[in-house]
Amino acid sequence: MDKIVITGGRRLNGDVVLSGSKNSALPIMAAALLAEDTTVISNVPNLRDIQTMIKLLRALGAKASFEDGRVVIKPGKELNPVAPYKLVSTMRASVCVLGPLLARTGHAQVSMPGGCVIGARPIDLHLKGFEALGARIKVEHGYVVARAQKFLRGSEMYLGGAFGSSVLATGNVMMAAVLARGKTIIESAACEPEVVDLANFLKKMGAKISGEGSPRIEIEGVKKLHGIEYAIVSDRIECGTYMFAAAMTGGDVMIKQALPSNQNAVIDKLLQSGVRIDKGKNFLRIRGRARLKPTDVTTLPYPGFPTDMQAQMMALMAITPGISVITEKIYPDRFMHVSELNRMGAKIYLESPRAIIHGVKRLSGAPVMASDLRASAALVLAGLVAEGKTEVYRVYHLDRGYFNMEGKLSSLGAVIKRERE
Ligand code: EPU
Repeated sequence: MDKIVITGGRRLNGDVVLSGSKNSALPIMAAALLAEDTTVISNVPNLRDIQTMIKLLRALGAKASFEDGRVVIKPGKELNPVAPYKLVSTMRASVCVLGPLLARTGHAQVSMPGGCVIGARPIDLHLKGFEALGARIKVEHGYVVARAQKFLRGSEMYLGGAFGSSVLATGNVMMAAVLARGKTIIESAACEPEVVDLANFLKKMGAKISGEGSPRIEIEGVKKLHGIEYAIVSDRIECGTYMFAAAMTGGDVMIKQALPSNQNAVIDKLLQSGVRIDKGKNFLRIRGRARLKPTDVTTLPYPGFPTDMQAQMMALMAITPGISVITEKIYPDRFMHVSELNRMGAKIYLESPRAIIHGVKRLSGAPVMASDLRASAALVLAGLVAEGKTEVYRVYHLDRGYFNMEGKLSSLGAVIKRERE
């Protein structure tokens, strides 16, 4: 297994280029199943989750390959509707093949995703949406078995849950509805840029969708979709992570391929922290200050502050003088990074779903354990500013969502390398 070793204390300077969005690419790869002919998706990040999705598409009978940031998918006429436990258990996003399989074959059998380290992650909203489209759903032997009677039928539905909207449920139901008969209206749809990217992809394939990016999406079913070429948008969470790296180290970093209009909540919080930000159509320049100011953050569905930036925000608050507060409204237990940050000298008190952060002057490097993807990123950020050496173990979490993070950070001047344990 690999570990990341960081010697803290360097200011980051220079340019960094973002990769394509993992959370856009995964459902879009699943959506390619909706056509029989070939789809080519570019700007796909080379990550472990992408490789898992390739394996899953192959298990479903599609031809799929990945080379140089391009995924080529040829689903063909016949699909196997069973998504096996072995693959689904390694990546929850596998659940987004349910919608396309159901739409294409009228039948989908997908291993029920289990528990997750960031908290309970039910799929009731996905299933509610499929039922509204006329599918019959059963859970048998650990699998969700969904069957359309003859075909799916468009309908009006409300997809709001206890914590608001769901990104993958919205995407999944949208993918099923594009080939349903008649009109579907999704109320309380997720508004995240990844949902918009998926809708753009589906529209290019021939789907009729409007309202994406708002809480009400309308879909007019069509008979057939066709394969296309499509480029994935850049990764807003990777972007936010480099924004924080620059801010925390007091650096001056130009982030290229950024989409500032997707980052308003993060930009707002960094401005409140005293960070200087210049933005253009597709870049962000971040200039950190020696002294940051404390803030309060509540994670919310888009356009609110993203839960996927919460751990990184906490790393920044950990070295910000004064008291800051984070309230986690999406995954109330997503705080596995707190104890590891405290091992590095942070002073964070947890009263879930709230964390109270007393900023310290400096963190001290330590061996720490990554528990999930974004927690790993927070530990790397903490390592960049900690005194001495930080070793981040279980880096496979980081590799699920950040392409070449150590390479990108070292090109900005960080002292960071990957080593075999
Ligand atoms: N929820 C339900 N029922 C459902 C689905 C979700 O109650 O059927 C609840 C969840 O428990 C949670 C909230 O809705 O409280 C949001 O969950 P959501 O369904 O939106 O999460 P997701 O779509 O499964 C995606 C990202 C996550 C990101 C969340 C929230 C992908 C592949 N994953 O997950 O990304 O945290 O949206 O923005 O797109 C990550 O990249 O590190 C990551 C975990």
